[in-house]
Parts: sequence; structure tokens; C-alpha cells
Amino acid sequence: MKQFILSILIMSICTTSSILAQNIELPPSQKTGGKPLMTALNERRSTREFSTKELNNQQLSNLLWAAWGYNRSDKRTAPSSMNKQELDVYVVTKAGIYLYDAKKNVLVEKVKGDFRAQTGKQAFAATAPLNLVYVADLNKMTPASKESKIATANINCGFVAQNVYLYCASEGLGTVVRGYVDREKLAKTMQLSSNQVIIVAQTIGFPK
Ligand SMILES: Cc1cc2nc3c(=O)[nH]c(=O)nc-3n(C[C@H](O)[C@H](O)[C@H](O)COP(=O)(O)O)c2cc1C
Repeated sequence: MKQFILSILIMSICTTSSILAQNIELPPSQKTGGKPLMTALNERRSTREFSTKELNNQQLSNLLWAAWGYNRSDKRTAPSSMNKQELDVYVVTKAGIYLYDAKKNVLVEKVKGDFRAQTGKQAFAATAPLNLVYVADLNKMTPASKESKIATANINCGFVAQNVYLYCASEGLGTVVRGYVDREKLAKTMQLSSNQVIIVAQTIGFPK
């Protein structure tokens, strides 16, 4: 009898936690189309006024693939020093904070709730539909000093941010990469470990 009650209890805990974790399966990203590269470069710019209109899941999938998706079996749309691929892209929406799993094309829920305001010290971060937070996992990198690892991660992250700029220019979306972030506070909210460092954030949305 005791065993029966225990198994019912375990089953109900498992069911509850899978209901609580609201992972988002993205549609396959579209890898063709868009504006010609030279046009996208000509239209790349920073935008700081966004409407509250949401991106749909197809746009989100395409954006994240352009940013840091796999374009070969184990390599990505942006380079990384010694192919360490230490960067993780977190997606912050009004629903929660998610980790982009590029292999599965899934957003893995990390924290429920609206923490957009914490992704930056500028007001638009709180109301734009989407903020990306780029986090380097220093444990994935070649042994070196913390400063040297962060310097390398900063460069690697620049390629990802530029991919997002070009995707946004191509799709008529607005974006701005942002270093003006309270990293300590945000890292706590995101439940990052000591080897994870926030590099920059990037707001994305429809320009107002
Ligand atoms: C590493 C980095 C950090 C930045 N941080 C911010 C920021 O915190 N807030 C902001 O509004 N713009 C930020 N920017 C955007 C720059 O201000 C912008 O790129 C610059 O003014 C040139 O404008 P453009 O991007 O339209 O060419 C940052 C850009 C870079 C590369």
C-alpha cells in the first residue's frame, strides 16, 4: 500500500513539473530568401524605438538560426575561437527566460515571468517583445585567465550579434546590441553559475 501511494506521489510530481516547464518547439528555420547581403549591410543600423508587436515563432526560429544555429552538422553560422562554441543565447520574452537549444530548435524554459526590464538599463528593453542575452560558458574554453577568456568570448559574441543585425535588416525588424546591462542582477535572475558570464544583450522588435 505504502509503495502504491509513493508511486502515485512520484507520478504526480513528474506530471506537474512537465506541465510547469513550458518549453517551446520552434518550426524548422527557413534558410533561404531574405534581402541580398549588400542591401542588408546597407540597411543595418541600431534602433531604439520598438512597438509591442510580437515576432511569430517562424521569425523567432529564423532569427535564432541566423544568430547561432548549425549550418553544418557540428558548426554554426558564426565562428568561434578554436571552435569552442562557448556562447549560449538566452531568449527573454514577456513569458519567461529560455535557453535556445540550437540542435533541437527548442526554447528551453529556465525562468517563468517577465524579466525583460532586467535585460537592460534603457526603458525600451522592458517593452520590446524580445531581448537576447549572450552568455559565455568559460568552462567550455581553452584554459587561460578569466580576462583572456572573456576577451575572446567578447569577439566571438560580436559575430553572433552582427548576424542578428543583418537578419533584422533583411526582415525589416529593428535591433540594438547593448552593453548597458546590470550583469550581476541579471545573472542572479537567470540562475547562472560562476563560470557563466553575460557578454551583452540585444533587443529585437518591430521599429515604431
Ligand atoms: C559592444 C557594444 C555595446 C553597445 N551598447 C549599447 C547600449 O548599451 N545601448 C545602446 O543603446 N546602444 C549600444 N550599442 C550600439 C551603438 O551605440 C551603435 O552601434 C552605434 O551608435 C552605431 O550606430 P549603428 O549601430 O546604428 O551603426 C552598443 C554597440 C556595441 C558594439
